Amino acid sequence: MRLISDCVFLMDRKMASHIVGYPRMGPKRELKFALESFWDGKSAAEDLKKVSADLRSSIWKQMSDAGIKYIPSNTFSYYDQMLDTTAMLGAVPSRYNWTGGEIEFSTYFSMARGNASVPAMEMTKWFDTNYHFIVPELGPDVNFSYASHKAVDEYKEAKALGVDTVPVLVGPVSYLLLSKPAKGVEKSFPLLSLLDKILPIYKEVIAELKAAGASFIQFDEPTLVLDLEAQKLEAFTKAYADLESSLSGLNVLVQTYFADVPAEAFKTLTALKGVTGFGFDLVRGTKTLDLIKSSFPSGKYLFAGVVDGRNIWANDLAASLALLQSLEGVVGKDKLVVSTSCSLLHTAVDLINETKLDDEIKSWLAFAAQKVVEVNALAKALSGAKDEAFFSANAAAQASRKSSPRVTNEAVQKASAALQGSDHRRATNVSARLDAQQKKLNLPILPTTTIGSFPQTVELRRVRREYKAKKISEEEYVAAITEEIKKVVELQEDLDIDVLVHGEPERNDMVEYFGEQLSGFAFTANGWVQSYGSRCVKPPIIYGDVSRPKAMTVFWSSKAQSMTKRPMKGMLTGPVTILNWSFVRNDQPRFETCYQIALAIKDEVEDLEKAGITVIQIDEAALREGLPLRKSEHAFYLNWAVHSFRITNVGIQDTTQIHTHMCYSNFNDIIHSIIDMDADVITIENSRSDEKLLSVFREGVKYGAGIGPGVYDIHSPRIPSAEEIADRVNKMLAVLDTNILWVNPDCGLKTRKYTEVKPALQNMVSAAKAIRTQLASAK
Ligand SMILES: *[C@@H]1O[C@H](CO)[C@@H](O)[C@H](O)[C@H]1NC(C)=O
Ligand SMILES: *[C@@H]1O[C@H](CO)[C@@H](O)[C@H](O)[C@H]1NC(C)=O
Ligand SMILES: *[C@@H]1O[C@H](CO)[C@@H](O)[C@H](O)[C@H]1NC(C)=O
Ligand SMILES: *[C@@H]1O[C@H](CO)[C@@H](O)[C@H](O)[C@H]1NC(C)=O
Ligand SMILES: *[C@@H]1O[C@H](CO)[C@@H](O)[C@H](O)[C@H]1NC(C)=O
Ligand SMILES: *[C@@H]1O[C@H](CO)[C@@H](O)[C@H](O)[C@H]1NC(C)=O
Repeated sequence: MRLISDCVFLMDRKMASHIVGYPRMGPKRELKFALESFWDGKSAAEDLKKVSADLRSSIWKQMSDAGIKYIPSNTFSYYDQMLDTTAMLGAVPSRYNWTGGEIEFSTYFSMARGNASVPAMEMTKWFDTNYHFIVPELGPDVNFSYASHKAVDEYKEAKALGVDTVPVLVGPVSYLLLSKPAKGVEKSFPLLSLLDKILPIYKEVIAELKAAGASFIQFDEPTLVLDLEAQKLEAFTKAYADLESSLSGLNVLVQTYFADVPAEAFKTLTALKGVTGFGFDLVRGTKTLDLIKSSFPSGKYLFAGVVDGRNIWANDLAASLALLQSLEGVVGKDKLVVSTSCSLLHTAVDLINETKLDDEIKSWLAFAAQKVVEVNALAKALSGAKDEAFFSANAAAQASRKSSPRVTNEAVQKASAALQGSDHRRATNVSARLDAQQKKLNLPILPTTTIGSFPQTVELRRVRREYKAKKISEEEYVAAITEEIKKVVELQEDLDIDVLVHGEPERNDMVEYFGEQLSGFAFTANGWVQSYGSRCVKPPIIYGDVSRPKAMTVFWSSKAQSMTKRPMKGMLTGPVTILNWSFVRNDQPRFETCYQIALAIKDEVEDLEKAGITVIQIDEAALREGLPLRKSEHAFYLNWAVHSFRITNVGIQDTTQIHTHMCYSNFNDIIHSIIDMDADVITIENSRSDEKLLSVFREGVKYGAGIGPGVYDIHSPRIPSAEEIADRVNKMLAVLDTNILWVNPDCGLKTRKYTEVKPALQNMVSAAKAIRTQLASAK
């Protein structure tokens, strides 16, 4: 008897709650280690499958225990959900020699990672997240077939564990819109014309899911938040009309995320045939709220994504509940489902065993596991069973975050508020500054330099680790790092490089190094987020107003400068990059946090100048990466991002030379913003896409500052010859003035070996010298 009543109670507890998707890696990155061990041949496929099944089962159990009604399945992946869809459709590019049948690990992982005999498929960013997906390669000759039963298998697997799940599929239209024409297929090939070929496979999958007992199914169609033209929107109408009869008898959710859904797309979406529920990101998509209030179709389910899947902050439950109650008035009590704004894949996994954060900061946070509990608490509250204790604890945490002196620093708030709406530029223009700098630096034409880091040896990592763990003393640490810098300086002098770097042996990471020394940052032990495949990143958390208690780099930079007469670059990470590679506050606009970081970096720049450093590089690797999804928001972003960069160096003398470095070359569309950064010298990744970068100058854009397009690719172990490098430089000279061109590699040398770095730099310097001689004799 007891059992039965418990059961009934359990069912009643399942309020209308839904999770869009869940992280796969596990709380301790179990999947990462299982994958890498399998790839290294150290464990069997069965071991990998076992770890994965255990992770899935614990996730389902966790959501079920929390009381979630609509629990997703098929959001697990051995690598990526787009690649899983490619496998489901049998769309394996021919170079993998797949001959049909269910797709096995060997084919799947060769598509994902390549191997000694075949390259991987291309990977690109998943919308504006830091997750990367494997881009499908399609064309008229692809032989689609139902070749991976993963969605059905995972549904059955959960069911066998007693959990009835909502299987999640990447929707057919988003799948095609995110594909690219395969090699050899015309660039203009209409990918959407393949709908007719893939829908029959979707129908097979749907039929099998139905047969297995599924009653609810979710299609992720995130492309609906993009700026889509009418013909692309029509594809949604067509696809779901075609699927309608297969979907009959099922509840069907079409899920969007990452931004608001534009009005036209909203109209198309809510009119789709066969669809009974619509999911929206109500954290980033606040404009969607107006559309819902004015024109949400009656009788349909609204999946309201109020718990943010993109950050690590605890939800403001009282505010969310008020919003949900207002939506209840719009769509009806029994049609409202509480959900996450997107898959929780984009946040950290579980706060429970986090060891590096103190209790106060922890009380402000929620990782994926905690967000699941928040969703359920909101759903329960809506249904009248509000957990008062949980809500008041949450309210207390929200209040403590608002009033904590660790969050607010009035001086910083004032200083950053004063920056808004005004312009900050160095008083003298760049050509006059370059003249002043040249008088002081006296560099040859085509000056040579490197980007910053030198090879990081096992020994160096050991020294840093032991110092952190207090196993070696500060004196021992300083001696070891000093020794390393000396080596790097001597090497560069031997190579006859003109502007030197200290090699950054003291740094683990270009953001963490600064975050650890700034106020307002916290670091986790296990706050990992999947970036691609088994790769995870652990972004710092910016929780408070940012300031710089003391100089961060002056000690090492001046030590390095004292070892040489040549200019030694001070090396800093720029505000936009620090911002973009962190979890950012949600209680003030992004630009405000960025201005605060800019002010901290400005202090550092000025201290470096005072210490006699004449060349300072401020890297903005992420400037372009940070562009918002929607074009309409680009100008606003670029404006404050570029302004933040200028703030860092507005106060220095003309004779101090500011460099910046960018890790991409495809910046033709934002070239005017790059110029507006007003750096004295910019070094850019270039060698992997030569023509792209130079074409912008060929098309007549005037660039007066110094520029160093990378002359060789450091991502490859290959050593370029001097002739090859000279060729590249000559190509650049055809479009850029001799007196602004710099000669440097593409990127930092951290990941390379000295046996590769030495000859490559040697060839780079001799190429520069040969061209100098050539130019001198041509005069
Ligand atoms: C590389 O991948 C292909 C395609 O999956 C496979 O046939 C081949 O055996 C793999 N080669 C190696 C060395 O793993
Ligand atoms: C595919 O088959 C061709 C012809 O047998 C072979 O040359 C090639 O190496 C194979 N590719 C892979 C990735 O195994
Ligand atoms: C930086 O921000 C952009 C846009 O939001 C995003 O696409 C990118 O992945 C971010 N980078 C990191 C490392 O989070
Ligand atoms: C599709 O099948 C045909 C006939 O078997 C074959 O010629 C073609 O190469 C296949 N296409 C791809 C992309 O594998
Ligand atoms: C947290 O730590 C406890 C005690 O070591 C352990 O039993 C539990 O499984 C851990 N939870 C997670 C999610 O890692
Ligand atoms: C830059 O400033 C110098 C000195 O003030 C001036 O002579 C020159 O015309 C300016 N150049 C440009 C491009 O504005």
